[in-house]
Amino acid sequence: MALKVGVIGTGMIGRDHIRRLTEVVSGAEVVAVSDADEVVAKEVAAGLPSAKVHAAGEDLIADSEVEAVIVCSWGPTHEQYVLAAIAAGKPVFCEKPLATTTDACLRIIDAEVASGQRLVQVGFMRRYDAGLVAMRDAIRAGELGEVRLAHMVHRNPTSTTSTTSANLVTGSMIHELDQLRWMLDDDIATIRVSSPVADGFRDPQLAVIQMRSGVLVTVDVFVNARYGYDVRCELVGTKGATASGPVSPVRTYRKGQEQVPVSPDFVVRFSEAYRKELIDWVLAAEGGGAGGASTWDGHLANLAAAAGVESLSTGDTVEIPTTNTPDLYR
Ligand SMILES: NC(=O)c1ccc[n+]([C@@H]2O[C@H](COP(=O)([O-])OP(=O)(O)OC[C@H]3O[C@@H](n4cnc5c(N)ncnc54)[C@H](O)[C@@H]3O)[C@@H](O)[C@H]2O)c1
Repeated sequence: MALKVGVIGTGMIGRDHIRRLTEVVSGAEVVAVSDADEVVAKEVAAGLPSAKVHAAGEDLIADSEVEAVIVCSWGPTHEQYVLAAIAAGKPVFCEKPLATTTDACLRIIDAEVASGQRLVQVGFMRRYDAGLVAMRDAIRAGELGEVRLAHMVHRNPTSTTSTTSANLVTGSMIHELDQLRWMLDDDIATIRVSSPVADGFRDPQLAVIQMRSGVLVTVDVFVNARYGYDVRCELVGTKGATASGPVSPVRTYRKGQEQVPVSPDFVVRFSEAYRKELIDWVLAAEGGGAGGASTWDGHLANLAAAAGVESLSTGDTVEIPTTNTPDLYR
């Protein structure tokens, strides 16, 4: 029997996840959708074999046919839906960010801990990217020795979502903030974010990060880089270095040049990672739980992002507070 899924937020990524669940991933069926824009929700439902439309996300979560929930609405609305799903005891996949304030993240963590089990998976899909997984495995196998440096690049051709200086950290750089913790199995100690643009929309931005183990990291985020979507990572250790870059199976040789295409956007670049992420979630949700990034991971990424936003405005290096990991997330 397919897992019966309800999707809240049928915008860009919501529709993409629905397409994936319907056409690519087996074992799940989208039976209900909801969006603040009911016209959009009805359009999406009309393209599905059998999905009802709920005017309110809370009604979708309460629907007895819905066994698991995907939240793809705007960030500030995530908390209310994730809390409602936890209260209903239903597994929930929440797109990043988990929530937009520290207090909201803590409320979600408290509710999940009180439920006694992991129900929430946060949409940090890079944890499923084959290249990044191989790099993480290389670190764990000791192939690089001790990692000392990491250099990361995150560029979009243009951005419609990260359109404020703060959102460039909380909406875009947040992927690197999670990726670092996951790859290095380490927490972020300090962050300093600067921009060559003094006023207005501060794009690009450069973060210098120190992990608790001492690893030094640079992250360059440029969401209007024009030329394409480009995510890169290099790790430098005492025994070697490893790097992942634009992924393309095709190289073209013409006019005296070797050309490698750059992805147009994250949907293309991370299509395999999104697919594996949803497979993992469906399998975990069928068992009543969650895989991938946890609410705790979502919270720590948010704490680092909040420190990054503070640094961008003050120019200071900002410390990320130390935290005690609840047993549920150890
Ligand atoms: N993991 C990733 O790579 C990735 C990529 C893109 C977006 N995202 C995240 O996914 C979320 C959605 O992003 P998007 O690009 O699809 O945005 P979008 O604007 O295209 O879609 C969001 C949808 O949510 C709806 N909505 C807003 N408030 C709502 C509410 N209270 N209840 C129900 N629906 C509501 C809007 O009407 C809209 O249709 C964001 O949190 C974003 O950060 C993650």
